[in-house]
Amino acid sequence: TYVLYNDSILDENDVAISYKDRGYHFGDGVYEVIRVYNGQYFTLDEHLTRLYESAKKIELEIPHSFEAFKTLLHDYKETLKTENGSIYVQITRGASDRNHLYTKEEKPVILGFEVKGKSVDTKQEQGVAAYVTEDVRWLRCDIKSLNLLGNVMAKRKAFDHDCEEAILYRESGVTEGSSSNLFLVNNETLYTHPANNLILNGITRQEILAIAKELKIGVIEEPFPKEVLLHADEAFITSTSLEIVPVHTFKGDIEATISVGTVTKKLQQALKEHVQ
Ligand code: PDD
Repeated sequence: TYVLYNDSILDENDVAISYKDRGYHFGDGVYEVIRVYNGQYFTLDEHLTRLYESAKKIELEIPHSFEAFKTLLHDYKETLKTENGSIYVQITRGASDRNHLYTKEEKPVILGFEVKGKSVDTKQEQGVAAYVTEDVRWLRCDIKSLNLLGNVMAKRKAFDHDCEEAILYRESGVTEGSSSNLFLVNNETLYTHPANNLILNGITRQEILAIAKELKIGVIEEPFPKEVLLHADEAFITSTSLEIVPVHTFKGDIEATISVGTVTKKLQQALKEHVQ
């Protein structure tokens, strides 16, 4: 297959990454996962905007203009001939002698490749179990950073308890999933954590908020304590890869069962129409 490497599209065997790349030493970089539906990128501008924002927040200057980066991603998709799939793109601060201190003189390294996900049809229809556990991540979860140790530990814990996703909470309330955002439905109103430093403001999350507005479904963006999960009418998680997946069971620090509800189904239907 082909790999996007800086401004070139290379055969995967021709990609050589420096052992000095700060991505390896420090997780010093940011990334995006972008969906392709029917040969077209979905919400490419939104993903790229977030990538530039994440980079800015860590003082990493992306060496391409927004438009040049977009062209690069389009060329890459054409080379891959992707009709339906996901493109992963990361940008690290680049190579340096191992030193916590970055100098701002490093040369950032872009790496992109196609990620082949499994079908999520059954999950979307039947829902999944989610494991409720403490959010031990740092306080800048708004940055889509390559530092994902807190996320991967939580995901592993969820799978070890036969759950598909971990739902994280802090003292201030439930934040998000290990790789998704969480929504509850109560009395036909949507509840989700506000987009602040404690969550990643998902592009799918933003699409759902826009759809809710169109469908005149009320939205409350406020943190809620984990005990609220005990009596939610409906719950679902969202991400680029999952779209909207209902949660039918909470395990771990909260135990509850929920049925897949009508508001969730309505939003799933509307999102499907958006991506086509
Ligand atoms: N994860 N929250 C976290 C912590 C995430 O990692 C993700 C996405 C989301 C949802 O964001 P979006 O709707 O923009 O995909 C929320 C991606 C898909 C990943 O790491 O694979």
